[in-house]
Amino acid sequence: MNWPSHGSNPNYLYEALDLPKPEILIDFSANINPLGPPPELEARWMEIFRRITDYPDPDATELKKTISEIEQVEPPSILIGNGGADLISLVSRMLSGKNVLIIQPTFSEYEKNCHLNGCKIHYHHLEAPDWEMNVEQLQNKLKGIDALFLCNPNNPTGVQYHFESIIQLLKASKEAECLFVLDEAFYDMVSDYEPIIPFTKEFQNLIIIRSMTKMFAIPGLRLGYMIAHPEIVRRIKGYQTHWSVNVPALAAGEICLKKQPFMVETSNYIGEERRKLFTFFKKERYAFSPSKANFYLLKDTDKEDQLPLLRHLLRNGIVPRHTYNFPGLDGRWLRFGIKHSSENDRLIEVLKQWRQHHQ
Ligand SMILES: Cc1ncc(COP(=O)(O)O)c(C=O)c1O
Repeated sequence: MNWPSHGSNPNYLYEALDLPKPEILIDFSANINPLGPPPELEARWMEIFRRITDYPDPDATELKKTISEIEQVEPPSILIGNGGADLISLVSRMLSGKNVLIIQPTFSEYEKNCHLNGCKIHYHHLEAPDWEMNVEQLQNKLKGIDALFLCNPNNPTGVQYHFESIIQLLKASKEAECLFVLDEAFYDMVSDYEPIIPFTKEFQNLIIIRSMTKMFAIPGLRLGYMIAHPEIVRRIKGYQTHWSVNVPALAAGEICLKKQPFMVETSNYIGEERRKLFTFFKKERYAFSPSKANFYLLKDTDKEDQLPLLRHLLRNGIVPRHTYNFPGLDGRWLRFGIKHSSENDRLIEVLKQWRQHHQ
């Protein structure tokens, strides 16, 4: 089967399964803010448009200044990227030929990029149903490892690791002279996030990657940033294409980051929808991951193979993300983004129908 490697672009999934595409689809396969972009972005869109005749600032000075004020880090510690994916690719290039440890199941781009750059890849697998980290076990695997990749909250489980565990792992990585690449693409979707960025001052081995495409619903624009020691930022920037972050993305970034109430409104909305969905899943015997983020894993506990459920959902215009390319999940779960309330209600309805026919 030719499974698509990422969510979004539902056509590929219908093609892979040779299913007719219903006229109306709800795409649950990408984890994007259901409230859409901040309204101010649309209001100022023509103003942004007028600036596309200029080349972008290759140093993204203004956006870095804004991030520097919000996150209390100096601009030389910041690198702006063409989405978090760009930064993952650049970090992996710096790690060319090195030993890396990836904590699975997680976002597939770490493995893909490390593989492309000739890294020797080692794995640590977390297990269902809680996918929690045991730092003692992990510590023993750090010997000889040059860089560790961790995603928090993790994609695809939505698990938010304990703050203490992350700090313990950070200290162990420093002792082992291992870089700690922490992907915080979804940090702003959880309601009780504790910031790790202040630790970049003391821990020169810490690299934090953030995406701005999820919270601000701008995956089509591409924008993310990295925070790390200035020397690491300087090295990684050396690999980046000149002008790789475009004018509209830089302008949108500044507008979006000043929208703190929008971010709070989003994480509250997500929290309420998640509670509604999880209450239904419990009642109807669907298993789900203990997610604190804007997506979760789900499966019908009565079935080992989720493919028939996936087909049922697709036929009804509900598009989840398959998990065949997440090592350790191997298709035994489906991932769903938390969408708008009426869209989540439609998912509940289609899952109810499935339950009625598969008691
Ligand atoms: C964990 C994680 N990190 C990074 C990214 C990349 O996001 P973007 O390149 O859109 O900023 C994604 C996208 O799905 C993701 O899930």
